[in-house]
Parts: sequence; structure tokens; C-alpha cells
Amino acid sequence: MAQTQFTTHHGMVDILPEEAQKWQYIEQIIRETAKSFHFGEIRTPILEQTALISRGIGELTDIVSKEMFAFNRGEDQYVLRPEGTAPVSRAYVQHHMEQRGGVQKLFYIGPMFRAERPQKGRQRQFHQFGAEMIGSADPMADAEIIAFMSEVYRRIGIKNTVLNINSVGDPASRKAYKEALQNYLRPHFNELSELSQTRFETNPMRILDSKEPEDQEIVAKAPVITEYLNQESATHYAFVRKYLDDLGIEYKQTPRLVRGLDYYTQTAFELTSPDLGAQDALGGGGRYDLLIEEIGGQPTPAVGFASGIERLLIACEALEIPLGEPAYLDIYIVTRGDAARMWALKHLPKLRSLGLSVSMDYAGRSIKAQMKEANRENATYCIIVGESELESGELTFRKMVESEEFKLTFEQIINRLRPI
Ligand code: HAM
Repeated sequence: MAQTQFTTHHGMVDILPEEAQKWQYIEQIIRETAKSFHFGEIRTPILEQTALISRGIGELTDIVSKEMFAFNRGEDQYVLRPEGTAPVSRAYVQHHMEQRGGVQKLFYIGPMFRAERPQKGRQRQFHQFGAEMIGSADPMADAEIIAFMSEVYRRIGIKNTVLNINSVGDPASRKAYKEALQNYLRPHFNELSELSQTRFETNPMRILDSKEPEDQEIVAKAPVITEYLNQESATHYAFVRKYLDDLGIEYKQTPRLVRGLDYYTQTAFELTSPDLGAQDALGGGGRYDLLIEEIGGQPTPAVGFASGIERLLIACEALEIPLGEPAYLDIYIVTRGDAARMWALKHLPKLRSLGLSVSMDYAGRSIKAQMKEANRENATYCIIVGESELESGELTFRKMVESEEFKLTFEQIINRLRPI
């Protein structure tokens, strides 16, 4: 009988060592950037209560209505987190972080889960890095969040991005706009796609985001929210743009930009890349001044962003941006015979204590096979040990690139390798 071949679930991938090295490099840049913006890391559980996510993100969103990985255990309802903002907001409330004073500046890196139809740049388990500034209504916080996001891409070397920004207003502005939008769409109702028709009453702004061909022409002529912003919202938006100008961050005002999560108020933004294909958003975010109260905290203004790491990698590949150095091996110990293998095992720690990366054969293979592996792993040096070397105390020390060999004692080798 054929054996079962186990594989990852659809839309979930393994990250193998060569690839993981690129991830480490990117994560290091994210961490360094977070440090220079003085954001502290927060790590929340992968599982959250389903009600937190549905209330936080919105029952009517695609994420909550059809993309959640959710299950029950006894009375408890669990969901694999689809994003980081609701969990971080929950942690803020749960740990009374407002009592720490000032604005909380938090960043995170980790896996998120959405049961979407997988395609290039869209997975069911994907990874985000993101940051949240909780406790400030000042447009300067919006600018700092956008600057943080932009800085990560700048440091990595991705330059050809477009930052789309918009204001989705406060609830009063949005109410006025929704009415105007519905009034405009009503005469076209029968021409709208089925999906947009279902959104007409509940969430008409999402119609602006429609990908259906029959909606495009109608949407193109729809009124834009920026014409319906009240004084407070318009002023906030104007200051965000001013601060971005001051910071030299280019942006494109995109008045039909709407986001797929319901918690946004005022600023909304998305960073797109021409190198990504259909899923062209590298990252996005905005202000969510009502979310924390919605999930049981005190009214607390906040703003944040999140970016997809897989999409960042796709952009790097398209732009041929090298991501860190390939893994290297300083020393491979080639052994012949059991005594030599024992010797190697015992001497590895000394070499490693010098900060060197060291490996050996773990399968009792021939010298030839071991040399081949040393070459494949790009070892800088080999130490070759057999019975005669152990007897004389003189080992063969081989410089791989130069193909030069020396007879040296272990002490002499250590002296050569010791960092000066
Ligand atoms: P989002 O736009 O849903 O926002 O996701 C942010 C980024 O995550 C996207 O721009 C994309 O790069 C990546 N992403 C989303 N879904 C997938 C997927 N299925 N496969 C691969 N990458 C994906 C949020 O999640 C908000 N929490 C952002 C935020 C933070 N707003 C305020 N603070």
C-alpha cells in the first residue's frame, strides 16, 4: 500500500534554511528600525477569542465573515489571529498599559492566518511586521507610523513604491458621505455587481474597493469622501499631509482608498509596489480611534500599520536586492575512523568558543564525501584528522579556496584562527 505523503495545508508554506536566512536579515532590519523609532516589541498569542476579532475587525468584513480559522473547545471559541491590531489593543486594555503614561509605541513580527484563496502574494498563513502607537490623536503620530513603515523599505532598498493616503473621516463625516454615496449609487443599483448590491445597505464604502468589472465605471464617478469631511477630520488630514511633506515622504492622495477592516477612522493608507502583480499592497494601516473602546477599554486614539513579509520578499526578488550574506562555515572537521570522530566532537566546543562556525561529519562517510560536503557548504578551512594525525599530534589544516595545506598542532591552529 502506498504510504501517505503528508504536506502543508493549502496556502501554508515551509521556510527552508536558505530562505530563512533572508527572513532573518529582514527581521533584523525591522528590529533595528523599531529601535531607532523607539518602539518596544510585543508578542501576543496566536489564538485569540473569536469575539475579540469579530467585534474588533467588524462582522461584515471579508476576514470575519468568511476567512477565519476558528474552532471551539468546550465553551471557548478560538480563532487563529488574522491580524495584529485587535490583539495588541486587547493587550493594551488587559494590562492597563495606559497607566504606564505617555503614548505606547509597540511593534510586532509574526504569523497571521486568513482562509483566503491562495495566489502569488496571498497565503493562508502569512507573516506581518507592524507597529501601533496607542494614546495619541496627534497627526504627528500618523506621520511617525508612516515614516516607520517607509524607513523599513528604504533600509532594505525598495524604492519604487507608491504611498496612497486618504481620510475615511470620523463617524459624523462618514455618515454624511455614506448617504451621499448611496444617493449616487441608488439609480445604478441594478447595474452593480451582485456583491456590491449586497454591500449597498450594510457597507457601501466597500463598493469603492470592488474588483468587479461592471462596477468600475460607476465607482469612478462616485463622490469622494474627502468632500464630506467635517472641519476636524479635514484639519487632521491636512496636518498628516503637511508632516509627511516636512519629512520628505512622497504620497498620492487616493480619495477612493478604503480598507478591508472596519475599525478605521481618519487616516487610511496603503503602500503599493508595481512588482507584486494583482496583490499589490506591501502594507497598510491607519488610525483606529474607536477600536479600544469597542473592545472594552477607555476611549483611546491610536494609529498603526502592518506589512506582509512574503510580499516584501517578492518585491526584493523582482528588484534583485540581495538579502544578507549566504550562510558560511568557517571550519569543517574531516575525520577518518572512530577515534578521530571522538577527537572532533571533543574539540568542536573550543573552536566554537572562538566565535567560529564549525561542523563535522555525522554519518561515518569517506574522506572524499566529507571534502565534497565541506566544499558544498563553502567551508573556509578544513581540519583533517586520522589515526596518524592523532598519533603525531600534527593535524592537516587546509585552506579551501587556496588549496593550501599545513601540518599544525591544534594549538597552532587555534592561534591562527583566534581573532586578533
Ligand atoms: P491589512 O491591510 O489587512 O492590514 O494587512 C496588511 C498587509 O498584510 C497587507 O498589505 C499585505 O501585505 C499583508 N497581507 C494581508 N493578507 C495577506 C495574505 N493573505 N497573504 C499575504 N500577505 C497578506 C492589517 O492587517 C491591519 N492590522 C494593519 C494595521 C495596523 N492597521 C492599523 N494598525
